[in-house]
Parts: sequence; structure tokens; C-alpha cells
Amino acid sequence: MPIDSFDCVRVELGCRGYDVLIGAGLLAITEQLISDRLGCETKAFIVTDTNVAQHYLETIAQPLIKSGRLRGTLTLPAGELSKSFSVLETVCSKILSADIERGDCVIALGGGVIGDIAGFSSAIVRRGLRYVQIPTSLLAQVDSSVGGKTGINTIHGKNLIGAFYQPHLVLADINTLKTLPERQVSAGYAEVVKYGFLGDSQFYNWLDANLTSIIELDHHALQHAVKRSVEIKAEIVAADEKEHGDRALLNFGHTFGHALETWARYSDVLFHGEAVSIGSCLAFKLSEELKYCPSHTTARISAHLKRARLPTEIAEIRGGIQPDAATLVHLMKQDKKIRDGQLTLIMARDIGQTFVTQEIQHADLVNFLIRQI
Ligand SMILES: NC(=O)c1ccc[n+]([C@@H]2O[C@H](COP(=O)([O-])OP(=O)(O)OC[C@H]3O[C@@H](n4cnc5c(N)ncnc54)[C@H](O)[C@@H]3O)[C@@H](O)[C@H]2O)c1
Ligand SMILES: [Zn+2]
Repeated sequence: MPIDSFDCVRVELGCRGYDVLIGAGLLAITEQLISDRLGCETKAFIVTDTNVAQHYLETIAQPLIKSGRLRGTLTLPAGELSKSFSVLETVCSKILSADIERGDCVIALGGGVIGDIAGFSSAIVRRGLRYVQIPTSLLAQVDSSVGGKTGINTIHGKNLIGAFYQPHLVLADINTLKTLPERQVSAGYAEVVKYGFLGDSQFYNWLDANLTSIIELDHHALQHAVKRSVEIKAEIVAADEKEHGDRALLNFGHTFGHALETWARYSDVLFHGEAVSIGSCLAFKLSEELKYCPSHTTARISAHLKRARLPTEIAEIRGGIQPDAATLVHLMKQDKKIRDGQLTLIMARDIGQTFVTQEIQHADLVNFLIRQI
């Protein structure tokens, strides 16, 4: 398959810059692409999870075995609980046992969980191995595989241990989304629409008109949605790689969302994207209450998220139990986006216009959350 039949978005980070290739059929030519981009001597170690392995491991592994370049594979249990210290130790040990050297590469084949833990392992084994992201969930294709944030969770909160460490190449094969469960497609969509919310109202309008095609995995709609999302993320990352400024906008809906996820103990009652969907609604609602944002904006975006089969309120979290407001605020304060004890929140002036603020007072936040629960 000719390489020009794929879209290519460059993440412009000087000597750490890399390409994100997007299209249908990339998996089948992974071995060739790794040879072309990383060198034909490069050995590889694949990290994946149980769900993804059964569909795609063979497709990637066989050509690498044939060319004598596969040093090993590791299949982790699927799910958020694999982003832990104990699993990190396993991944690092297996990579070392496979004699992967600095010039070789780790392939992260899977969703955001695999990308985050394989990326973090690559950052710390031998003080840095090359790695290639092959995201197979919608969330990973539009968000986690691009930008170099890697890490694991602890009982103190999500992603609190990690590193900024950029991949060498990202291969987003949209055909892999055909096997993704419907609920995961919706969860990934929450990150797609986030790009419309945070800075591109035209993209939001396009998404609003094409939502059904996207969640039904229409090829053309998906290709555009993934490409535009990656373009927006790549631009923000290139301008602020280590989140000293505008990269924080990518956390729109996430300070609320991460607190909800931590409260739910990263369990299946609430996927990351679902937490982001509820978090985005809370961020718009608070923005409305504080008069930053026109009234009815929350109603508009909630209706959109509902059409994408996403939860929009805390009461919709599965399992029938809800956190209390004080617990949520405490968890929000564990978030990395805290400076001098003051919480940093991303608020909205409108769809497509977000900004970072430290002006929201603790008591106002608790009162707001009490009314949402
Ligand atoms: N590093 C970043 O910048 C960043 C950004 C956003 C989210 N994240 C992280 O990403 C994680 C969420 O990512 P996710 O939603 O991809 O979760 P995930 O990796 O758990 O994948 C979701 C589920 O889908 C399955 N799956 C993945 N691809 C599949 C496919 N093609 N076919 C069938 N099943 C498939 C997985 O096995 C898993 O059960 C969270 O840990 C979040 O913190 C990181
Ligand atoms: Zn996210």
C-alpha cells in the first residue's frame, strides 16, 4: 500500500519531532515503516493487552519475526489497573530480559493504558529507549499516543508518576476501531469533541453535523475526525511541550474527570472518556454560573454528548453510588494542575474558547459540586 494514501501530521519538536500517520491498513506495513523510519537493524519488543492481542498481535509480529527483528512480546491484562507500579516493574524487566538496547524500539500496541505504561517504561529503561505508538482505541488515536505524556496511576491519583517522553513514530490505523466495543468508541469520542470545545468551534460544528457517521465508524468521517484532532493536539504540544502554558487547555474537563475516576478507583463503572464527558459538562456549567459563558451552552453540549451515548451528569455514573462534594474537591486538589495550593481550572467563554484560571475559590467549588450531586 503506498504511503501517500495515508495522512501524515508532523509533531514539530525539533530533534524530538515525529510523524503521526493516519489511515486504514497501516498495521500490515508496520515492519516496513519501522525499517524505513527507525532503520532496518532496529529490534523490537511489543507490549499489548489481552483484548488487542487477539485481534492484531499476529499482524504486527509475523513480519517482524520473518525479518528476525522481534525480540519478544508482552501481553498485559486489559484495563486501567495495568497502569500500576507492579506492572511497570514487569514491563521493564521483560524489556531488559529481551536485550532491547537504546537503538531498538518498544512498540506500544493498544489503547491509552498500553501507550502510557509502555511509553513510561521506554523512558526509564536504560534511561531511554525509542518507542513507537500503535494506538488501537479512538481515545489513543486522537489523544494519548501523541504528545509524549507517559505514566502510571497511584492511590493518590491518576498519572501522578510519569515522564514527558516523545515516541519516534505513531501509526493510527483506523481499521482497528472496527473491533472496539461501542462503549469505548463513545468514550474516545469525548476526547475528539474536546478539541472542538477547547479551541475550534468550526470543528465542533463539523462534529455536530457528522456525529452519527463518526460513532458508526464511517471511514471518511473517522479519518477526518482523527486527523483534525491530531493536528490540534500536535500544534498545542509543539508550542508548549511540557505544559507551562497553553497545553493545560488539553485538560479541559479533566480536573473534574480525574477526580471522578480516582473516586471510582479506575474501575469499569466509569471509563476515562466518560469521566471527561461529565467533567466537560461540569466545566461548562461552572463557566455559565460564573457568567464567563453564555447561558444554554451546557444544554447544547450536553445534548451533543448524549447523542454520542455519553454520560453528562454525576448521577449517571454506573453502580448507583455517588461521591460527596468535599471528597471530589479533595481529589481535584491532588491533581497535578495545582500551584501554590490553588487549583487551576480550565473554564470556557464559549464553545471553542477556553482559558486557564486560578481564580475559582475552594468554597465556591464545593457549593457548586454540592448542587451537582
Ligand atoms: N498520555 C496521554 O496524553 C493521555 C491522554 C488521554 C488519556 N490517557 C490515558 O489513556 C487511558 C485510556 O485510554 P483508552 O480509553 O484507550 O483505554 P484502554 O487502553 O484501557 O483501552 C480501552 C479498552 O479497549 C480495548 N481495546 C483497545 N483497542 C481495541 C481494539 N481495537 N479492539 C478491541 N478492543 C480494544 C482495551 O483492551 C481496553 O479494554 C487512561 O489511562 C488515560 O489516563 C493518556
Ligand atoms: Zn483524557
